[in-house]
Amino acid sequence: MKQFTHIAETADYLEIQREKDLMIGFVPTMGALHEGHLALIKRSLQENDITVCSIFVNPIQFNNNNDLANYPRTLSQDLKMLESCGCDVVFFPDTAEMYPDGETISFGLNFGTLDKVLEGQFRPGHFNGVAIVVKKLFDIVQPTHAYFGKKDFQQLAIIKHMVYAMGIPVEIIPCETIREVDGLAMSSRNTRLSPAERKLASGIYQTLLNVREKIGKTPVPELKEWAVKKIEENDGFRVEYFEIVDQESLMPMEDWTSRDRAVALVAVFVGDVRLIDNIELFS
Ligand code: PAJ
Repeated sequence: MKQFTHIAETADYLEIQREKDLMIGFVPTMGALHEGHLALIKRSLQENDITVCSIFVNPIQFNNNNDLANYPRTLSQDLKMLESCGCDVVFFPDTAEMYPDGETISFGLNFGTLDKVLEGQFRPGHFNGVAIVVKKLFDIVQPTHAYFGKKDFQQLAIIKHMVYAMGIPVEIIPCETIREVDGLAMSSRNTRLSPAERKLASGIYQTLLNVREKIGKTPVPELKEWAVKKIEENDGFRVEYFEIVDQESLMPMEDWTSRDRAVALVAVFVGDVRLIDNIELFS
């Protein structure tokens, strides 16, 4: 596995590969890798000649300094995991390499309502930071295919919009959410839960499944209220939002008229750890 920390050497190496007409699959991550990330890597390995993974804890997408400081960093273990699953290239720059002019960069792209709702409402500037780093990484790697998890449903919508609006020649491949045996969506942040919180956290997905059973039967506002109550029955759980939205516009639904396009999304604070999850209600 090739390991790079500098932009120029990464871009030079990949340029040579591109000249051979090879398909390049790309999986951007913030490290602390788990099976969810590895599923994306494995899919890319199957569908491309070369797979590139990036590991960079992107400071400009964190709107909470505590979350940034506490974000798990497990680089040597990540490198071992990538090596053993057969990843070809890993790029792990430091902050100065990615932001030589400091972190006060901004992005001119208008995401319409996509970055105003859900996560956007509670994490101002977050998607701006995500879009900037992903655009920078796309410029360096110039992949033919890039793999993103549906676990971050809104992030996927933002990236798709950016690629479309800016005409970036990459195919975005959405990948299913990988879960623990009890249903909890895998996340780097799960390691920060206490054993008791970890046990209760499976209730988040169980509630999403319950919500899916109730579509069309319980009115939308009532169902949202029910879901919040159900999750908050667990000690120390506080729901930041629970929304049922249109899968493309991400605008909240008031009723079930277009339920074949409905997705339920939730953000929950478990102690000071913020978890997100979602379920496609039409599937
Ligand atoms: P990170 O949270 O490390 O996630 C990297 C990729 O793995 C994202 O596409 C995410 O959706 C996917 N992923 C995470 N958990 C998953 C799971 N349980 N099942 C399936 N896919 C999962 O998302 C980011 O990093 C950053 O915002 C990034 C795009 C790298 C930009 O900094």
